[in-house]
Amino acid sequence: MKKIIINLSIILLSGIGVKAQNKNPFLWGIASAAYQVEGGYRADGKGESKWDFLTNKVGVTQFLIGQKQTGNVAINMYDRTQYLKDIQLMKELGVNSYRFSLDWSRIIPDGIGAVNEKGLAHYDLLIDDLKAAGIEPVVTLYHFDYPMALVQKGGWGNPEMINWYKNYAEVVLKRYGKKVKYFITFNEPYIEFMVAEYLINMEQSKEPNTVRFAKGIQKAHRQLLANAAAIKMFHEMNLKGQIGMTLNLSPCLPLDSNNPKDIKASEFEDKLLNKFFLDGLFKGTYPQQVVDSVQKYDPSFQPSGSEMKILAETKPDFLGINYYAPALVSYDEKAPFASTWMDNNTDKVKSHNGPVRPDELYHLLTRIKNDYGSPKMMITENGAGFEGEDIKVKPIVKDPLRADFIQRHVVAALKAKTDGVNLIGYFPWSGWDNFEWVFGYTKRFGLIYVDFETQERIPKQSYFEYQKIIKANK
Ligand code: BGC
Repeated sequence: MKKIIINLSIILLSGIGVKAQNKNPFLWGIASAAYQVEGGYRADGKGESKWDFLTNKVGVTQFLIGQKQTGNVAINMYDRTQYLKDIQLMKELGVNSYRFSLDWSRIIPDGIGAVNEKGLAHYDLLIDDLKAAGIEPVVTLYHFDYPMALVQKGGWGNPEMINWYKNYAEVVLKRYGKKVKYFITFNEPYIEFMVAEYLINMEQSKEPNTVRFAKGIQKAHRQLLANAAAIKMFHEMNLKGQIGMTLNLSPCLPLDSNNPKDIKASEFEDKLLNKFFLDGLFKGTYPQQVVDSVQKYDPSFQPSGSEMKILAETKPDFLGINYYAPALVSYDEKAPFASTWMDNNTDKVKSHNGPVRPDELYHLLTRIKNDYGSPKMMITENGAGFEGEDIKVKPIVKDPLRADFIQRHVVAALKAKTDGVNLIGYFPWSGWDNFEWVFGYTKRFGLIYVDFETQERIPKQSYFEYQKIIKANK
């Protein structure tokens, strides 16, 4: 009898009978981040975080949208009753994975020191609930936010931050390392330091913009070192899963392709925005032109030989890529590092994060494959919001442009995969409308509409489009 069972299982596993289950299927998921969705800002012993402070005390949304908004309630996903309903919506959508982030200030409220068991238990349960629903958790350890107590100690301006992060990462990996297959150390250092912190100027520094910008690169360097330390630790723990880092990447194009100044500025922007991070991560080097420009304004930026060796010796298991749009770069002698790209969306219908260019996603993926030894890549964010969309005409919410955006970007991503890119997953940003940082609740990116007053959820057209895509590609 035993023999027959063994033989039968060999037949099943070899795919002659029922097809063997692929251990790591392509990840079709959706993405979110703790501060943007959780709410529960004082729940279960959570400490104050940087974004709690920025929204409640500085009133940072005031500058751009003229009113104070916070993530104190957000879309209420800290509440289990709510998130179980959201898991149900994910199941109906057909995703097999969910990228979300942990809030450091729930786990170690003061950044260093005592661990908060209730915070850890919350994520334990969330992970279990997802797995019970057949959804693979993809866990980001750090998505822009961290304990305010560490901000007060200088945050990433303080080299000690690397050790504080390492300590936090150890707590997380020890607790969840056996049951989570995919970890992401950080999300988008460029956006955190060179865009958000730079624009907000939380420390109210009077230093020239060029100096503040250069100091952002120094902080990003520290984040790359902390990333390397966490990856090393993960590998030494012999865990079965995979760990990577997420970068925001944008091919840089001259706004005016006939203007030599724009061309030059776009080449430099590419080094600053893309190459600095990719080279740092995969080669343990930085483009000399970036190092020189940074040192001009921040002479203390002196990555040491041993630091670069750490970067060179530690490779992520996969690269997380957040792609929204290419950067259209125009030369601007007044701007820090001499170029601007944030508002150069030339499309007729404006999308929130730049021009709609799926072709550039294809170029980006194939470029990374060719230049960085064909690493595994996961598209950890890709999405858009359009002025005038997301109109509720009950029972549906219309977002044809977002549906079209997702469809065309998936086609581009899968074409790259067919052409040899080692792509392991795709996650639109975002599952739900949520708290869009300095823009508060005024910019929607979700596949699921959220009524921010009542917390009602309504799947949009883009949700059904994505559902079709997943079904067709499974
Ligand atoms: C961030 C998200 C953000 C999204 C849309 C990305 O830069 O990782 O947190 O909401 O872009 O702007």
